[in-house]
Amino acid sequence: MRQAGRYLPEYRKIREKHSFIEMSHTPELAAEVTLLPFKRFSFDAAILFSDILVVFEALGKEIVFEEGKGPRVTSPVKNAADVASLEIKEVKSALDYQAKTIQLLIPELNVPLLGFAGAPFTLASYLIGDLTLAKQWMFDDPKSFEALLDILCDLVIQTLQLQIDAGAKAVQIFDSWAHVLGSRQLEKYSFYYLKKIVDALSVPTLIFARGSSAFAEPLALVGSSGISMDWPVSLPRLRKRVGNRVTLQGNLDPDILFSSPEVVRKETQAMLQGMASDPGYIVNLGHGIKPNTPLESVQAFVDTCHEFS
Ligand code: CP3
Repeated sequence: MRQAGRYLPEYRKIREKHSFIEMSHTPELAAEVTLLPFKRFSFDAAILFSDILVVFEALGKEIVFEEGKGPRVTSPVKNAADVASLEIKEVKSALDYQAKTIQLLIPELNVPLLGFAGAPFTLASYLIGDLTLAKQWMFDDPKSFEALLDILCDLVIQTLQLQIDAGAKAVQIFDSWAHVLGSRQLEKYSFYYLKKIVDALSVPTLIFARGSSAFAEPLALVGSSGISMDWPVSLPRLRKRVGNRVTLQGNLDPDILFSSPEVVRKETQAMLQGMASDPGYIVNLGHGIKPNTPLESVQAFVDTCHEFS
């Protein structure tokens, strides 16, 4: 996550000239930015440069980017009547720039390209604009809340299919706000929809949910190819909890990258050692790389992974 983001001086330079919205909507710029990390590091996969919020444009919503805060919709969905009036426009034309970006990228990459989308619950939280309000709505009027998630689920499936048709080899689904849900609500408002999305697609799927190590067992039952883990958990111990049905991804604390390259090497080696005999393990951080992360640390992380045998 944020593979092509602000830790790279060359990203920051392009960002001085173009807004985030402009960058993600212009295939040439989005493709250029996706490729930036590969000029420095030999990552084993690329992720499309875009954002989880752009899908709202296919609902006729405008998104704006507030510096320092991130993207938001200008007219949030407030009630059941707003949900009833929501309609998915032609995803093919609304998100055509994502397909075009992917088509530009495929011939330039010698690693697989991942597509991505937000999960319905996380998208609903952003579309409502306030997490407390979203949860209040969820408890008070589950019917219209579910109607909203149904629409978003459909939108996500169509978006991911568009990315797959354009050439994405696998997709990652981000349920970044799942950690605010209790166990019963996780089943109803997160896992139920994740399963629907995973079942609808024919490429490998990865699920990222913040706080995932606390609910890894039910998450592993969703049926995705892989699940991404945060760092409070030891991955070998987690493997025992979830059994062999799912690939594990993760889980270095992104803050370790602010330490010296020696510390990064030591911590990365310890993580790799623990997973050395685990088939299909995907090395990653436990969440996105932060702005201002030192480049030497990223290099030390990537080198340690490639040198490990
Ligand atoms: O990883 C990549 O390079 C692919 C592109 C990507 C972005 N956002 C670009 C981005 C991906 C996969 C995302 C996912 C995303 N976007 C999530 C889910 C992952 C997570 O972090 O939990 C969420 C919740 C969003 C919404 C979003 N976008 C927020 C809350 C913010 C502001 C926070 C921040 O880090 O600035 C963004 C901005 C954003 N999305 C940036 C990038 C590169 C920073 C843009 C900039 O300031 O130039």
